[in-house]
Amino acid sequence: MPMAARQTQTLLFPLADADTSISLATSSTFVPNMGLPVHRWFRYSAGFSADWVESVINSMSGPVKLFDPFAGSATTLLAAESVGVEGWGLEAHPFVYRVARAKLSWRSDPQDYLRKLEQLNRAANRIAPDLSVYPSLIRRCYGDEALTQLDVLRQAYEAVRDESPASELLWLTLVAILRRVSTAGTAQWQYILPKKQKRAPADATVAFQEFARVIHCDMQRGQAVTGPRAHLLLGDARTCNGIPQHSANLVITSPPYPNNYDYADATRLEMSFMREISGWGDLQEAVRKYLVCSCSQHVPENSVDLSAVLQTPELSPIRDEIKDVCEQLAEVRESKGGRKTYHLMIARYFRDLAQTWKALRSVCTSPSRICFVIGDSAPYGVYVPVIPWLGRLAISAGFKSFSFEKTRDRNVKWKNRKHRVPLQEGHLWIEG
Ligand SMILES: C[S@@+](CC[C@H](N)C(=O)[O-])C[C@H]1O[C@@H](n2cnc3c(N)ncnc32)[C@H](O)[C@@H]1O
Repeated sequence: MPMAARQTQTLLFPLADADTSISLATSSTFVPNMGLPVHRWFRYSAGFSADWVESVINSMSGPVKLFDPFAGSATTLLAAESVGVEGWGLEAHPFVYRVARAKLSWRSDPQDYLRKLEQLNRAANRIAPDLSVYPSLIRRCYGDEALTQLDVLRQAYEAVRDESPASELLWLTLVAILRRVSTAGTAQWQYILPKKQKRAPADATVAFQEFARVIHCDMQRGQAVTGPRAHLLLGDARTCNGIPQHSANLVITSPPYPNNYDYADATRLEMSFMREISGWGDLQEAVRKYLVCSCSQHVPENSVDLSAVLQTPELSPIRDEIKDVCEQLAEVRESKGGRKTYHLMIARYFRDLAQTWKALRSVCTSPSRICFVIGDSAPYGVYVPVIPWLGRLAISAGFKSFSFEKTRDRNVKWKNRKHRVPLQEGHLWIEG
């Protein structure tokens, strides 16, 4: 049975009555995935549509070997499994990697998962809750009753955990309900806002057991799926180490956009609850240092020698233009309270992406086809022509041509916007 098959499930986790047609506008968003088995296990707002990935794979003639260097929550790799194609992926964020790896266990034995769940439930009966171990963010996001329930589940998980897929799926069952059962509101994307309260969050124990049933149900579908299992590595797109050379003839991916979204902060709630970090200050070492530079938190003042970065050979195709943009950003920041280091971020971002193109050239076959889902940006209102710059860096790395297909406009609703530069998002196609 194809993974995209729909069915009605329980109250807390209904499968959306999703429209199966793929619109260009939603192809670059994660929203349609919340109606799909397995994809719906973790809402990863940075993701794109699995149905669209399948349609791109199906448009290829001949055998496909697919690679996603920024695999995120494994949308591309699950789509590859769904249509019987070999998939490879890299993800550098340790928490997101673990989410993706757990989702890719969807074809493991559902009975093992149920047995592990039973073990956890038995262990939970013996746990004495201890709320004193949680940092203040967690205390502000949950009432005592909800946190007591969650603490019992977390401690029970720690008591029964091992290296098995079933254990990793239990971990996912727990981390994926944390936002649903929090009283805190969430901002656009994934930041948590303890001061904004939700009215009726779900009961933690009920949400956990109900979500476990959803996972079990989706795993049963997985038993009928044959074909290769995807390979996911914890690794860096800038080197593509671990990916076989000259192997991929199709790349479907979405790198971080240079729009100041902090992927490390996006999982602070979950990582704090699981006691992997004690607060925001730990994110640099635990996460950020592994990622492409796409937010100003990556580059504190004086952490980067701007002229040295701009002189790196990989940036030569865009050097004059990027230098000009960085100078404008350096000047504008002097008039801003936050004095954000966008000038450093932009230089580092394009150097990181130029390295990624070089690495991609060596893992892709010639010819190959690449789609980057990407958007442009305008920090402090200074326009950065992300799309043509990335295209030119790709050509300089050895690819033959690029073209752009817009999927949607961004930043056109001016209310409360920091700047009024119209932006777009879409598919950057690279051939060669
Ligand atoms: C736009 S998201 C990809 C979302 C994915 N398409 C999905 O549907 O879930 C970009 C991802 O790149 C990851 N990333 C950032 N720097 C990386 C690097 N140097 N190597 C590999 N992955 C990286 C981020 O952690 C993030 O998960």
